[in-house]
Amino acid sequence: MEFVPSVTHSLFPYWNTARLYLTLGRESTGKMSPLEGSVRPLKITDIEEAYRLETEGFPAEEAATYDDLIFRQKRCAELFMGYFEGYDLVGFICGTRSNRVSLDEESLHTHDPEGESICIHSVCVDRTRQRQGIALKMLETYCDHARSVCTDAKRILLVSHAELIPLYTRAAFTYIGKSTLKHGSKKWFEFEMTL
Ligand SMILES: CC(C)(COP(=O)(O)OP(=O)(O)OC[C@H]1O[C@@H](n2cnc3c(N)ncnc32)[C@H](O)[C@@H]1OP(=O)(O)O)[C@@H](O)C(=O)NCCC(=O)NCCS
Repeated sequence: MEFVPSVTHSLFPYWNTARLYLTLGRESTGKMSPLEGSVRPLKITDIEEAYRLETEGFPAEEAATYDDLIFRQKRCAELFMGYFEGYDLVGFICGTRSNRVSLDEESLHTHDPEGESICIHSVCVDRTRQRQGIALKMLETYCDHARSVCTDAKRILLVSHAELIPLYTRAAFTYIGKSTLKHGSKKWFEFEMTL
């Protein structure tokens, strides 16, 4: 496998501005809720664990391959973020950039560094930790981060199945409507957040 240096202050250009060791779950009172992990970019060595979460979370016809995840981390590490508790990866969000205004099949396997759309491809939380607000918190942090590091991007796009419409509207995405994406056998619905 090709060697890719791990993310460090010197090698990761957005590190200082992004300051991604954000504590999650802090309520407005300052009291800590049960979510005390942090969101930070994944290193190449975290991809194996991300792949485990991906294949446990998504049906086989929808799950990204290990090579897809490696591609996304190598080409667009700034948009591959995980929620960690200690060293344990509990959930992650990954995306790449595209010049299209809608998320399509091609965007799943490509990355245009100047693309005006940030396409989120996976939002995934460990099966044993779902419905604890982790996805919502990751989305909030991810979108703030994307806004600060991809200053030339115009929007964030994602698709979901019908049952997750409440998750993404609660995360401040705008529901656009049915997606034309064909990926697996179920219908997809598209969301957008203007940056
Ligand atoms: C979808 C997924 C990421 C949600 O993660 P999560 O951490 O459990 O989500 P949250 O706890 O932040 O959910 C926040 C709200 O979103 C909605 N929501 C989340 N999961 C839902 C589900 N499976 N069905 C319906 N609504 C859901 C609910 O309104 C929830 O609030 P509530 O728990 O108070 O009712 C997680 O179930 C997962 O990894 N699934 C497998 C992979 C997948 O399908 N990813 C989505 C791709 S579009």
